[in-house]
Amino acid sequence: KNDTLKYWYGGHEIAAKLFHHILTVSEEGKGAREYLRKRGFTKEVIDRFQIGYAPNSWDFLTNFLEKRKFPIEEMVACGLLSIREFDQKPFDRFRDRIMFPIWNKSGDIIAFGGRVLNEGNPKYLNSPESTVFNKSETLYYYHKARQNIRKKNEVVLFEGYVDVISAWRAGIENGVATLGTALTETQTKLLRRTSDNIILCYDSDNAGQNATLKNAAMLEAAGMKVRIGKLPDGFDPDDYIQKNGPERFNQDIIGQSLTLMAFKFQYYRRGRNLQDEGQKLDYIQQILTEISKLTRAVERDHYLRQLADEFSISLEALKQEQIQIFKGRK
Ligand code: GTP
Ligand code: MN
Ligand code: MN
Ligand code: MN
Ligand code: MN
Repeated sequence: KNDTLKYWYGGHEIAAKLFHHILTVSEEGKGAREYLRKRGFTKEVIDRFQIGYAPNSWDFLTNFLEKRKFPIEEMVACGLLSIREFDQKPFDRFRDRIMFPIWNKSGDIIAFGGRVLNEGNPKYLNSPESTVFNKSETLYYYHKARQNIRKKNEVVLFEGYVDVISAWRAGIENGVATLGTALTETQTKLLRRTSDNIILCYDSDNAGQNATLKNAAMLEAAGMKVRIGKLPDGFDPDDYIQKNGPERFNQDIIGQSLTLMAFKFQYYRRGRNLQDEGQKLDYIQQILTEISKLTRAVERDHYLRQLADEFSISLEALKQEQIQIFKGRK
Protein backbone atom coordinates (compact mmCIF):
# COMPACT_ATOMS: atom_id res chain seq x y z
CA LYS A 1 0.00 0.00 0.00
CA ASN A 2 2.77 2.44 0.94
CA ASP A 3 4.74 1.34 -2.09
CA THR A 4 1.69 1.99 -4.22
CA LEU A 5 1.48 5.57 -2.97
CA LYS A 6 5.20 6.03 -3.49
CA TYR A 7 4.88 4.91 -7.11
CA TRP A 8 1.75 6.96 -7.75
CA TYR A 9 3.13 10.22 -6.36
CA GLY A 10 6.56 9.47 -7.79
CA GLY A 11 5.13 8.69 -11.22
CA HIS A 12 3.17 11.93 -11.32
CA GLU A 13 6.11 13.94 -10.05
CA ILE A 14 8.51 12.60 -12.64
CA ALA A 15 5.92 12.88 -15.41
CA ALA A 16 5.33 16.53 -14.47
CA LYS A 17 9.08 17.21 -14.64
CA LEU A 18 9.31 15.48 -17.98
CA PHE A 19 6.31 17.33 -19.47
CA HIS A 20 7.66 20.63 -18.13
CA HIS A 21 11.02 19.92 -19.71
CA ILE A 22 9.41 19.03 -23.05
CA LEU A 23 7.38 22.21 -22.96
CA THR A 24 10.18 24.56 -22.03
CA VAL A 25 13.16 23.34 -24.07
CA SER A 26 12.27 20.78 -26.73
CA GLU A 27 11.54 21.16 -30.42
CA GLU A 28 8.32 19.15 -29.97
CA GLY A 29 7.15 21.66 -27.40
CA LYS A 30 7.33 24.59 -29.78
CA GLY A 31 3.66 24.63 -30.72
CA ALA A 32 2.61 24.41 -27.09
CA ARG A 33 5.03 27.20 -26.11
CA GLU A 34 3.57 29.36 -28.84
CA TYR A 35 0.01 28.57 -27.70
CA LEU A 36 0.79 29.49 -24.10
CA ARG A 37 2.69 32.61 -25.11
CA LYS A 38 -0.35 33.82 -27.06
CA ARG A 39 -2.51 33.22 -23.98
CA GLY A 40 -0.17 35.34 -21.89
CA PHE A 41 1.50 32.60 -19.85
CA THR A 42 4.90 33.94 -18.85
CA LYS A 43 8.00 31.88 -18.05
CA GLU A 44 7.43 32.66 -14.37
CA VAL A 45 3.87 31.34 -14.47
CA ILE A 46 4.83 28.21 -16.42
CA ASP A 47 7.44 27.43 -13.76
CA ARG A 48 5.29 28.26 -10.74
CA PHE A 49 2.35 26.14 -11.92
CA GLN A 50 4.66 23.41 -13.31
CA ILE A 51 2.88 23.51 -16.62
CA GLY A 52 4.05 21.03 -19.23
CA TYR A 53 3.37 19.46 -22.60
CA ALA A 54 2.66 15.80 -23.34
CA PRO A 55 4.04 15.14 -26.83
CA ASN A 56 1.98 13.60 -29.61
CA SER A 57 3.12 10.04 -29.00
CA TRP A 58 1.56 6.75 -27.85
CA ASP A 59 4.61 5.52 -25.95
CA PHE A 60 6.69 8.50 -24.88
CA LEU A 61 5.78 8.43 -21.17
CA THR A 62 5.28 4.64 -21.23
CA ASN A 63 8.88 4.08 -22.34
CA PHE A 64 10.22 6.61 -19.90
CA LEU A 65 8.43 5.05 -16.93
CA GLU A 66 9.44 1.54 -18.01
CA LYS A 67 13.08 2.58 -18.19
CA ARG A 68 12.83 4.08 -14.70
CA LYS A 69 11.41 0.80 -13.39
CA PHE A 70 7.99 2.14 -12.42
CA PRO A 71 5.61 -0.86 -12.21
CA ILE A 72 3.41 -0.48 -15.26
CA GLU A 73 0.24 -1.83 -13.63
CA GLU A 74 0.57 0.91 -10.98
CA MET A 75 1.02 3.56 -13.66
CA VAL A 76 -2.16 2.32 -15.32
CA ALA A 77 -4.00 2.22 -11.99
CA CYS A 78 -3.13 5.87 -11.24
CA GLY A 79 -4.21 6.94 -14.71
CA LEU A 80 -0.93 8.06 -16.24
CA LEU A 81 -1.13 5.23 -18.76
CA SER A 82 -4.03 3.38 -20.38
CA ILE A 83 -4.37 -0.20 -21.57
CA ARG A 84 -5.13 -1.20 -25.14
CA GLU A 85 -8.23 -3.40 -25.33
CA PHE A 86 -7.04 -5.97 -27.88
CA ASP A 87 -3.56 -6.88 -26.60
CA GLN A 88 -3.46 -5.35 -23.08
CA LYS A 89 -0.43 -3.20 -23.96
CA PRO A 90 0.03 0.11 -22.09
CA PHE A 91 0.04 3.45 -23.86
CA ASP A 92 0.23 7.15 -22.97
CA ARG A 93 -3.10 8.49 -21.78
CA PHE A 94 -2.19 12.12 -22.47
CA ARG A 95 -1.03 12.99 -25.97
CA ASP A 96 -0.53 16.38 -27.57
CA ARG A 97 -1.94 18.24 -24.59
CA ILE A 98 -0.90 21.10 -22.32
CA MET A 99 -0.48 19.51 -18.91
CA PHE A 100 -1.63 21.14 -15.68
CA PRO A 101 -0.55 19.23 -12.57
CA ILE A 102 -3.22 18.96 -9.87
CA TRP A 103 -1.98 18.76 -6.29
CA ASN A 104 -3.51 17.49 -3.07
CA LYS A 105 -3.52 19.52 0.17
CA SER A 106 0.00 18.36 0.97
CA GLY A 107 1.40 19.36 -2.39
CA ASP A 108 1.73 15.91 -3.95
CA ILE A 109 0.75 15.75 -7.60
CA ILE A 110 -2.27 13.42 -7.77
CA ALA A 111 -3.61 14.06 -11.26
CA PHE A 112 -3.30 16.06 -14.46
CA GLY A 113 -5.66 18.19 -16.44
CA GLY A 114 -4.64 18.00 -20.08
CA ARG A 115 -5.84 20.72 -22.42
CA VAL A 116 -6.00 20.39 -26.19
CA LEU A 117 -4.17 23.08 -28.10
CA ASN A 118 -6.86 25.21 -29.69
CA GLU A 119 -10.11 23.34 -30.45
CA GLY A 120 -10.79 19.65 -29.86
CA ASN A 121 -12.78 17.23 -27.77
CA PRO A 122 -12.70 16.84 -24.86
CA LYS A 123 -11.21 20.27 -24.19
CA TYR A 124 -9.81 19.01 -20.91
CA LEU A 125 -8.88 15.41 -20.34
CA ASN A 126 -8.54 14.82 -16.61
CA SER A 127 -6.93 11.88 -14.87
CA PRO A 128 -9.49 9.26 -13.87
CA GLU A 129 -10.73 9.21 -10.30
CA SER A 130 -8.68 6.96 -8.06
CA THR A 131 -7.98 6.41 -4.39
CA VAL A 132 -5.68 9.47 -4.45
CA PHE A 133 -7.59 11.67 -6.91
CA ASN A 134 -11.11 12.43 -5.89
CA LYS A 135 -12.18 15.37 -8.00
CA SER A 136 -14.97 16.36 -5.65
CA GLU A 137 -12.52 16.70 -2.76
CA THR A 138 -9.91 18.63 -4.67
CA LEU A 139 -9.41 22.37 -4.84
CA TYR A 140 -6.88 23.39 -7.46
CA TYR A 141 -3.89 25.28 -6.00
CA TYR A 142 -5.15 25.04 -2.41
CA HIS A 143 -1.80 23.69 -1.20
CA LYS A 144 -0.11 26.97 -2.14
CA ALA A 145 -2.95 29.45 -1.74
CA ARG A 146 -3.81 28.28 1.79
CA GLN A 147 -1.38 30.56 3.63
CA ASN A 148 -2.44 33.59 1.59
CA ILE A 149 -6.09 32.76 2.23
CA ARG A 150 -5.37 32.66 5.96
CA LYS A 151 -3.39 35.89 5.88
CA LYS A 152 -6.12 37.82 4.03
CA ASN A 153 -8.94 35.84 5.65
CA GLU A 154 -10.44 35.67 2.19
CA VAL A 155 -10.53 33.17 -0.63
CA VAL A 156 -11.45 33.69 -4.28
CA LEU A 157 -13.12 30.67 -5.88
CA PHE A 158 -12.87 30.07 -9.64
CA GLU A 159 -14.06 27.34 -12.03
CA GLY A 160 -10.87 26.51 -13.84
CA TYR A 161 -7.10 26.21 -13.54
CA VAL A 162 -6.56 28.90 -16.13
CA ASP A 163 -8.60 31.37 -14.10
CA VAL A 164 -6.55 30.70 -10.97
CA ILE A 165 -3.37 31.20 -12.98
CA SER A 166 -4.51 34.42 -14.70
CA ALA A 167 -5.70 35.81 -11.39
CA TRP A 168 -2.35 34.96 -9.85
CA ARG A 169 -0.73 37.07 -12.56
CA ALA A 170 -3.08 39.85 -11.50
CA GLY A 171 -1.71 39.61 -7.96
CA ILE A 172 -4.51 37.47 -6.54
CA GLU A 173 -2.64 34.78 -4.63
CA ASN A 174 -5.60 33.52 -2.60
CA GLY A 175 -7.43 31.94 -5.54
CA VAL A 176 -8.39 28.27 -5.87
CA ALA A 177 -10.67 26.37 -8.25
CA THR A 178 -13.28 23.66 -8.17
CA LEU A 179 -12.60 21.70 -11.36
CA GLY A 180 -15.81 22.78 -13.01
CA THR A 181 -18.89 24.33 -11.43
CA ALA A 182 -19.81 21.67 -8.86
CA LEU A 183 -18.99 22.37 -5.22
CA THR A 184 -19.20 19.59 -2.62
CA GLU A 185 -19.59 19.49 1.15
CA THR A 186 -15.99 18.36 1.50
CA GLN A 187 -14.69 21.35 -0.47
CA THR A 188 -17.00 23.67 1.45
CA LYS A 189 -15.63 22.44 4.77
CA LEU A 190 -12.08 22.88 3.59
CA LEU A 191 -12.78 26.44 2.51
CA ARG A 192 -14.63 27.25 5.71
CA ARG A 193 -11.79 25.91 7.82
CA THR A 194 -9.39 28.27 6.09
CA SER A 195 -11.41 31.49 5.97
CA ASP A 196 -14.76 33.17 6.75
CA ASN A 197 -14.87 35.21 3.57
CA ILE A 198 -15.26 34.03 0.02
CA ILE A 199 -15.60 35.73 -3.35
CA LEU A 200 -17.24 33.49 -5.93
CA CYS A 201 -15.91 34.26 -9.36
CA TYR A 202 -17.39 31.82 -11.85
CA ASP A 203 -17.90 32.17 -15.60
CA SER A 204 -20.69 34.45 -16.79
CA ASP A 205 -22.39 31.72 -18.83
CA ASN A 206 -25.58 30.02 -17.60
CA ALA A 207 -23.74 27.10 -16.04
CA GLY A 208 -21.49 29.47 -14.11
CA GLN A 209 -24.28 31.77 -12.94
CA ASN A 210 -26.59 28.94 -11.88
CA ALA A 211 -23.73 27.34 -9.97
CA THR A 212 -22.95 30.68 -8.33
CA LEU A 213 -26.42 30.81 -6.84
CA LYS A 214 -26.33 27.21 -5.69
CA ASN A 215 -22.80 27.28 -4.30
CA ALA A 216 -23.32 30.61 -2.57
CA ALA A 217 -26.23 29.11 -0.63
CA MET A 218 -24.07 26.19 0.44
CA LEU A 219 -21.20 28.41 1.52
CA GLU A 220 -23.51 30.71 3.47
CA ALA A 221 -25.13 27.75 5.17
CA ALA A 222 -21.63 26.69 6.24
CA GLY A 223 -21.17 30.09 7.86
CA MET A 224 -19.14 31.96 5.25
CA LYS A 225 -19.67 35.54 4.17
CA VAL A 226 -20.17 35.32 0.43
CA ARG A 227 -19.56 37.98 -2.19
CA ILE A 228 -19.83 37.58 -5.94
CA GLY A 229 -17.28 38.67 -8.51
CA LYS A 230 -19.71 39.26 -11.35
CA LEU A 231 -18.30 39.23 -14.87
CA PRO A 232 -19.93 40.81 -17.90
CA ASP A 233 -21.72 38.43 -20.29
CA GLY A 234 -19.41 36.33 -22.39
CA PHE A 235 -16.44 36.49 -20.03
CA ASP A 236 -14.68 34.20 -17.65
CA PRO A 237 -12.03 35.62 -15.29
CA ASP A 238 -9.20 34.76 -17.66
CA ASP A 239 -10.99 36.35 -20.65
CA TYR A 240 -11.61 39.48 -18.63
CA ILE A 241 -8.00 39.80 -17.52
CA GLN A 242 -6.76 39.21 -21.08
CA LYS A 243 -9.07 41.87 -22.47
CA ASN A 244 -9.04 44.54 -19.76
CA GLY A 245 -5.88 43.88 -17.82
CA PRO A 246 -5.18 42.85 -14.23
CA GLU A 247 -5.84 46.28 -12.67
CA ARG A 248 -9.37 46.44 -13.97
CA PHE A 249 -10.04 42.89 -12.83
CA ASN A 250 -8.88 43.82 -9.35
CA GLN A 251 -10.81 47.08 -9.27
CA ASP A 252 -14.01 46.25 -11.12
CA ILE A 253 -14.58 42.59 -10.37
CA ILE A 254 -12.90 41.82 -7.06
CA GLY A 255 -13.06 45.36 -5.65
CA GLN A 256 -16.67 45.85 -6.74
CA SER A 257 -17.80 42.38 -5.78
CA LEU A 258 -21.53 42.15 -5.02
CA THR A 259 -23.36 40.98 -1.95
CA LEU A 260 -25.34 37.83 -2.64
CA MET A 261 -28.60 39.82 -2.60
CA ALA A 262 -27.27 42.35 -5.09
CA PHE A 263 -26.26 39.41 -7.28
CA LYS A 264 -29.78 38.01 -7.06
CA PHE A 265 -31.21 41.35 -8.22
CA GLN A 266 -29.19 40.83 -11.40
CA TYR A 267 -29.54 37.06 -11.66
CA TYR A 268 -33.33 36.98 -11.73
CA ARG A 269 -33.37 39.51 -14.53
CA ARG A 270 -31.71 37.07 -16.91
CA GLY A 271 -34.09 36.17 -19.71
CA ARG A 272 -36.84 38.46 -18.40
CA ASN A 273 -38.20 41.46 -20.22
CA LEU A 274 -38.97 43.96 -17.49
CA GLN A 275 -40.85 46.20 -19.92
CA ASP A 276 -43.49 43.51 -19.91
CA GLU A 277 -45.86 44.15 -17.02
CA GLY A 278 -46.41 40.51 -16.12
CA GLN A 279 -42.72 39.63 -16.19
CA LYS A 280 -41.92 42.69 -14.12
CA LEU A 281 -44.39 41.65 -11.44
CA ASP A 282 -42.97 38.13 -11.43
CA TYR A 283 -39.52 39.56 -10.98
CA ILE A 284 -40.61 41.77 -8.08
CA GLN A 285 -42.30 38.80 -6.44
CA GLN A 286 -39.17 36.70 -6.82
CA ILE A 287 -36.96 39.38 -5.29
CA LEU A 288 -39.43 39.91 -2.47
CA THR A 289 -39.30 36.21 -1.68
CA GLU A 290 -35.50 36.41 -1.57
CA ILE A 291 -35.59 39.49 0.66
CA SER A 292 -37.98 37.70 3.00
CA LYS A 293 -35.36 35.00 3.54
CA LEU A 294 -32.89 37.48 5.00
CA THR A 295 -32.64 37.15 8.76
CA ARG A 296 -31.74 40.74 9.64
CA ALA A 297 -34.50 43.34 9.60
CA VAL A 298 -32.12 46.16 8.60
CA GLU A 299 -31.00 44.18 5.61
CA ARG A 300 -34.58 43.46 4.57
CA ASP A 301 -35.40 47.12 4.90
CA HIS A 302 -32.38 48.15 2.84
CA TYR A 303 -33.28 45.90 -0.09
CA LEU A 304 -36.98 46.66 0.09
CA ARG A 305 -36.12 50.32 -0.34
CA GLN A 306 -33.87 49.51 -3.26
CA LEU A 307 -36.66 47.55 -4.92
CA ALA A 308 -39.18 50.29 -4.19
CA ASP A 309 -36.90 52.95 -5.70
CA GLU A 310 -36.07 50.94 -8.75
CA PHE A 311 -39.66 50.24 -9.75
CA SER A 312 -41.28 53.32 -8.22
CA ILE A 313 -43.48 51.26 -5.94
CA SER A 314 -44.41 52.44 -2.47
CA LEU A 315 -42.48 50.83 0.34
CA GLU A 316 -45.83 50.33 2.03
CA ALA A 317 -47.09 48.12 -0.81
CA LEU A 318 -43.92 46.02 -0.77
CA LYS A 319 -44.21 45.53 2.97
CA GLN A 320 -47.82 44.42 2.58
CA GLU A 321 -46.74 41.91 -0.03
CA GLN A 322 -44.02 40.68 2.23
CA ILE A 323 -46.46 40.06 5.06
CA GLN A 324 -48.33 37.77 2.65
CA ILE A 325 -45.10 35.90 1.93
CA PHE A 326 -44.38 35.49 5.65
CA LYS A 327 -47.92 34.23 6.24
CA GLY A 328 -47.65 31.80 3.34
CA ARG A 329 -44.57 30.25 4.91
CA LYS A 330 -46.26 29.31 8.17
P1 GTP B 1 -9.85 27.63 -21.14
O1 GTP B 1 -10.79 27.34 -22.27
O2 GTP B 1 -8.52 26.98 -21.36
O3 GTP B 1 -9.76 29.08 -20.81
O4 GTP B 1 -10.41 26.86 -19.86
P2 GTP B 1 -11.54 27.32 -18.85
O5 GTP B 1 -10.94 27.29 -17.47
O6 GTP B 1 -12.21 28.57 -19.28
O7 GTP B 1 -12.52 26.07 -18.99
P3 GTP B 1 -14.06 25.96 -18.67
O8 GTP B 1 -14.64 27.21 -18.15
O9 GTP B 1 -14.67 25.34 -19.88
O10 GTP B 1 -14.03 24.85 -17.53
C1 GTP B 1 -13.64 25.09 -16.21
C2 GTP B 1 -13.05 23.83 -15.63
O11 GTP B 1 -13.94 22.75 -15.87
C3 GTP B 1 -11.72 23.38 -16.25
O12 GTP B 1 -10.60 23.94 -15.59
C4 GTP B 1 -11.77 21.89 -16.08
O13 GTP B 1 -11.35 21.52 -14.78
C5 GTP B 1 -13.24 21.57 -16.21
N1 GTP B 1 -13.53 21.18 -17.59
C6 GTP B 1 -13.79 21.97 -18.65
N2 GTP B 1 -13.96 21.27 -19.79
C7 GTP B 1 -13.82 19.97 -19.44
C8 GTP B 1 -13.89 18.74 -20.17
O14 GTP B 1 -14.09 18.70 -21.38
N3 GTP B 1 -13.67 17.61 -19.44
C9 GTP B 1 -13.41 17.61 -18.11
N4 GTP B 1 -13.22 16.46 -17.47
N5 GTP B 1 -13.33 18.76 -17.39
C10 GTP B 1 -13.54 19.92 -18.03
MN1 MN C 1 11.15 25.46 -15.26
MN1 MN D 1 -17.16 27.40 -17.71
MN1 MN E 1 -14.03 29.27 -18.33
MN1 MN F 1 -11.25 30.34 -20.03
